[in-house]
Amino acid sequence: MGYCSWNDCASEVTEERIKRVTRALIDSGLAAKGYRRVNVDEGWLASRDANGNMVADRTKFPSGMRALGEWVHAQVVPGHGRVMKYGLYTSRGTCQCSTMKYQGPGSAGFVRQDAAWMAAAGADFVKEDSCCGSQTHDVAFRQFAEMRDALNATGRQIFFALCGWNTWYAERGASLGNSWRIAVDGTNWATLSGCVNRNAQLGRFARPGAWNDPDLLQGTGVGSNDRATNPNGCFVAREIPQSRDWYLTEVQARAQFALWAVMSSPLLISADPSQIGAGLLETWGNEEVIAVNQQFRPGGPYQGSRLLGGDLFWDPELQRGGGTNVWGKMLPNGGWTVVFVNNGPNATTIHCDIGCYGPVVGEERRSYSVRDLFARKTIGTFSVPQTLVAKAVAPSGGSAMLRLELVTDDMVSRRSLRSEAFSRLPCKTASPTGDWGGLCRATESASSGGGGRTKTRKSKSKRGKAARQS
Ligand code: GLA
Repeated sequence: MGYCSWNDCASEVTEERIKRVTRALIDSGLAAKGYRRVNVDEGWLASRDANGNMVADRTKFPSGMRALGEWVHAQVVPGHGRVMKYGLYTSRGTCQCSTMKYQGPGSAGFVRQDAAWMAAAGADFVKEDSCCGSQTHDVAFRQFAEMRDALNATGRQIFFALCGWNTWYAERGASLGNSWRIAVDGTNWATLSGCVNRNAQLGRFARPGAWNDPDLLQGTGVGSNDRATNPNGCFVAREIPQSRDWYLTEVQARAQFALWAVMSSPLLISADPSQIGAGLLETWGNEEVIAVNQQFRPGGPYQGSRLLGGDLFWDPELQRGGGTNVWGKMLPNGGWTVVFVNNGPNATTIHCDIGCYGPVVGEERRSYSVRDLFARKTIGTFSVPQTLVAKAVAPSGGSAMLRLELVTDDMVSRRSLRSEAFSRLPCKTASPTGDWGGLCRATESASSGGGGRTKTRKSKSKRGKAARQS
């Protein structure tokens, strides 16, 4: 959980922006709720020196990356202390993903050196992109494995985020890093709907310390990144062609957040929290939705699944779409959550009957208290086999989200569920505001797995040290 500079600032990210965003995460209360990672995406690396060492762009980062890391780490989150974390970006190819304003060298041929450099700069997170790198599966796996090993060799606890834009990383993801991008950049409701569709097939690959990554939390773009609409923006849109359509409506941003929670996706805000509106702050700051993201039923499944509906569709030109979805995720102590989404052009009532939730939740005659997570209100009781109904879900990306908790009558089943579940817990669980990344990163060599048969094992070596995250 935290911030990533890409959809906020593109390659125009600066030290000043990073400091301002860090303070904003803290002052807005978001850091106290778990948003503690401050990840500098592409744009900080200028070149290499004669010895091949990374050289930061000192016009944008006058103090240098190490000093910035120290500054981030020194910030105090009231009630929590110095818990902020710092992230850096590189690419496994020969170059980074250039924009009209930026071109930087990649890590190909410099993997150990770059890993050591970033660790020395204080990185707690490294995102490795795939630009100027081979898209052949084996080569990509080998290159990511090289960086994994190099990061582990530093002895520093570093969350390793793979960025390869394809679902085929999922099968090997847990053996390579802590998260892996599954699709192209999700910068508007069309691409994000596509990310959701892809992720619907990948739930079985997610587990503590290893997560599918459907990309960043995209703001509304209003009052944030583009200088044309905001004097406090970072970039001039025409100089960053990638930034076209970098926005969602408030309604879509809420659906994205609900879905990212149920899909146990990384929650990386890509906007400046000091500039976003009250609606977005309420959405991203909703602790009950954050809790759904951070919690899971011990023993799994760790990622929620699509219970009903097919692919969501959205046409960015026409600003119209189609498809309704119901998603569900199992939570600790017999609880579960359900998310309804409507991409169609009219408000729609969506039903989830026992045929919808039964296969995941079970058909035992249990009773639950029901909480509306957006309204933050307990709205009644629900008993299997009743049908859950979300009335008049708003069109064009509207959503509703409920959390169901076993009622006290079911204390006995609740206790048995808990003890059974915890005995199967493979890794340390995360608290709602904790950070699941890196708790149990697999450290086997990439070559030993494959074809869905990858194993994870706990390492006692230095690599194991890097695998644990505080
Ligand atoms: C790719 C990645 C993005 C971002 C940009 C930087 O497009 O998918 O997340 O890192 O590169 O150019």
